[in-house]
Amino acid sequence: MNARRPQPRRLAFAALLAVLAAPALAAGPAAPKAALTVEQARGQYLVNTSGCIDCHTPFKLGPRGPEPDMSRHLSGHPEGMQMPPPPALPEGPWLVISSATNTAFAGPWGVSFTANLTPDPETGLGLWSARDFRQTIRTGRHLGRGRELLPPMPVPVYNHFTDADLDAVFAYLQTLPPVKNKVPEPRPPVRASAAAPK
Ligand code: HEC
Repeated sequence: MNARRPQPRRLAFAALLAVLAAPALAAGPAAPKAALTVEQARGQYLVNTSGCIDCHTPFKLGPRGPEPDMSRHLSGHPEGMQMPPPPALPEGPWLVISSATNTAFAGPWGVSFTANLTPDPETGLGLWSARDFRQTIRTGRHLGRGRELLPPMPVPVYNHFTDADLDAVFAYLQTLPPVKNKVPEPRPPVRASAAAPK
């Protein structure tokens, strides 16, 4: 019997992938999708289908209405967008107000601003480990030990992700072009008596 030789074509393809992967990490959105590893690609699929973009990529007005600003992809509430105090809502069933970017939310918890999920080391998740990310989602606390995450971050929903899913999401987030964007701290709720003196 003839033992089959290693398939040169397959080897060449693997080498090509390895070459493509390195610049893709640095090159950003224009990089070919094939350059993602299987895990990163799964993370991309989960991010694209789990609503992360709705809240963590600021919306801008496009020709056909609001659309995610991909130049700030997943970088959270834009630091340059100073939000005045939210308007007081009248008595009744309206509960939450959101900014035009869909990155700032005012409700009974105060005002929350979506986090920068890009790998910028100072303002994003650049210094996080996969474990930091997993613990944050598992506990609903910053890095698994800091303050509790505020609404509308859907922690109870994402708790259904498996550890492998969370690792894949984190692996993909780390391939994003880093955006330097320092998201403001959340603001505490305005006391009802202060908002509407009787
Ligand atoms: C409905 C809006 C919404 C969606 C959808 C959403 N987030 Fe968030 N997220 C937020 C808000 C608001 C905060 C900030 C909460 C705070 O400051 O307490 C946040 C915070 C976070 C944090 C915490 C960062 C830190 O420094 O502690 C992580 C991590 C995160 N989101 C990841 C994700 C991922 C991954 C997805 C998709 C799978 C996602 N979010 C979807 C609104 C959202």
